[in-house]
Amino acid sequence: MAIPATVPLRNDLLDEEPYGAPQLDVPVCLNVNENPYEPSAAVIDSIVKRVRQIASTLNRYPDREHEQLRAALAEYLKKETGVDVPPSQVWAANGSNEIMLQLFQAFGGPGRTALSFAPTYSMYPEYARDTFTTWHMTSRKDDFTVDVDAGIAEIKRIQPSMVIITSPNNPTGTPIDVSDIERIVAACQHVSVADADESAHPIVVVDEAYAEFRRPGVTSAHTLLARYDNVAVSRTLSKAFAYAGARVGYIAASQGIIDALRIVRMPYHLSALTQVAALAALEHTDEQLSQVEHLRRTREDTAAWLAQQKYHGHELAVAPSDSNFILFGRFDNRHLVFEKLLQRGVLIREVGPDGYVRVCMGTDDEMNTFKRELTHVLHELDESGE
Ligand SMILES: Cc1ncc(COP(=O)(O)O)c(C=O)c1O
Repeated sequence: MAIPATVPLRNDLLDEEPYGAPQLDVPVCLNVNENPYEPSAAVIDSIVKRVRQIASTLNRYPDREHEQLRAALAEYLKKETGVDVPPSQVWAANGSNEIMLQLFQAFGGPGRTALSFAPTYSMYPEYARDTFTTWHMTSRKDDFTVDVDAGIAEIKRIQPSMVIITSPNNPTGTPIDVSDIERIVAACQHVSVADADESAHPIVVVDEAYAEFRRPGVTSAHTLLARYDNVAVSRTLSKAFAYAGARVGYIAASQGIIDALRIVRMPYHLSALTQVAALAALEHTDEQLSQVEHLRRTREDTAAWLAQQKYHGHELAVAPSDSNFILFGRFDNRHLVFEKLLQRGVLIREVGPDGYVRVCMGTDDEMNTFKRELTHVLHELDESGE
């Protein structure tokens, strides 16, 4: 894509491409970590009813503070995590992507650094770029877990204004124990932030986009909120909640962090239609989450199946996942695996460390197709020696 020189694009963006997973019309799409099950008839009825109720008010701007939605999200969080967060300490936006961007707008910026643990979600560096924030990655261990001591040492050295911990992580699926998050949060309270008041400490953003898929016994970082005012926990309705098309993400944090986001948000950023659609889904949380347990089982079965498959005589490496996707490899040429599966109508994602690909959990039929086609592809690669 070449933008004509006559268009005065920012110099630092001149060589950039629009980023995003391919949106292709193929029979089996397992590339963007969606929930493959559509909303129930009850949810659809509720959406239609609520949209009809507010349709005649669309000449007016929506509730800028989206108070009803924040209350419904606080109620959901209490049910899901057991943690009581006041609605004033919850904030929503158009997907957790927008929440993340707002965090960078409020806490990043020129002269500031955001730190995270590689490999991780590929959009963070884009928000850093767009807000002129320096992006700093420190490596995870070989098993993709966070090296907490090394991370803390790096935080002390770099003095970032933001630390982002993704749990479960994308694209590896790796969770981090809440006691390890707490060690990082506590350490940050003794770190000052370059280019901020000397009493300021880094905020720790825990991105829990996939948290509902976690294995039993994994505690949510929401449990830290009452004790630390430098923690923010972000979630989304896009994944387990099966509502990616509605574009709703949200965050729970101290009042100070939420009020900072209120400064940078666009006026009326969350449309009245989005707000009622989200309320309709939150009215039916059990239905929206009804396939989560099944998808967890699909993940366990698929991981076990993948671990038995052979590539050039070796078993595949499969990253243990607490999410609705699995990272597996290592292939000499992962693009070939991606392309061959695509030719067979299965779209996965080329992402993460070299040689790995990621597959997201689909319906039973979709997973059967994935397994059948991957078996063919592995066989073809064995035959050709590629
Ligand atoms: C780790 C992580 N965070 C945030 C998001 C953004 O999700 P959304 O903007 O749909 O809420 C994603 C989407 O893939 C993700 O993987």
